[in-house]
Amino acid sequence: MLTLLDPAIEHYAHEHSTPSGALFDELRKVTLAETELPQMQVGRIEGQLLTLITRLTRATLAVEIGTFTGYSSLHIAMGLEPDGRLITCDIDDETTKIARRFWAQSPVGDKIKLELGPALDTLAGISGPIDLAFIDADKENYTNYWDILVPKMRKGGVIIADNVLWSGKVLDPQETSDKAIVEFNDHVANDPRVDQVMLSVRDGITLARII
Ligand SMILES: C[S@@+](CC[C@H](N)C(=O)[O-])C[C@H]1O[C@@H](n2cnc3c(N)ncnc32)[C@H](O)[C@@H]1O
Repeated sequence: MLTLLDPAIEHYAHEHSTPSGALFDELRKVTLAETELPQMQVGRIEGQLLTLITRLTRATLAVEIGTFTGYSSLHIAMGLEPDGRLITCDIDDETTKIARRFWAQSPVGDKIKLELGPALDTLAGISGPIDLAFIDADKENYTNYWDILVPKMRKGGVIIADNVLWSGKVLDPQETSDKAIVEFNDHVANDPRVDQVMLSVRDGITLARII
């Protein structure tokens, strides 16, 4: 698990967050065994946060950028209203096969629609209003995703962006991806269309509410 916190404290917080269930435990095991970058998967704490925020916003339309093996997608789907749906975007046909396998075993799996292809293209075709959006794919496009999403969000809707502390590299950006995250964070902080809070949970999570 990627963490900036003392691992013992992270473990304590994990143990005091609602367990997501056996299907999620199995999906973690399969992701560890069958993928090269299992650490990309959000864990129980962030997963439960996604479910909670989705519920609190009473989301009927959610959009996710970065499906991977479908762990965060399922957490979002669990929080959707009964008629709610999640559109999730990825470019990887292999890891998303695992996602589809697990969604098929979940009572909320049929609320999830996978769009394979660059997220910028998929987002262009979504008209909204979007209640909840989760950004968790290629860091270089975070600001582009933001600028496409904000006008499509409903007032009071929430955008959640993952990895905004980028393992602490935001304090000394060297690589292109480091600089992209720094640019994104500054862009969000200066955007008058939202209220936002940056949480130092896991690798950093920004929650932004559309005003
Ligand atoms: C950090 S992972 C997502 C993890 C996932 N949210 C979870 O918790 O299990 C990022 C994903 O973004 C996908 N990705 C990368 N570039 C993309 C793009 N341009 N459009 C859509 N997805 C992309 C990758 O294939 C990868 O599966």
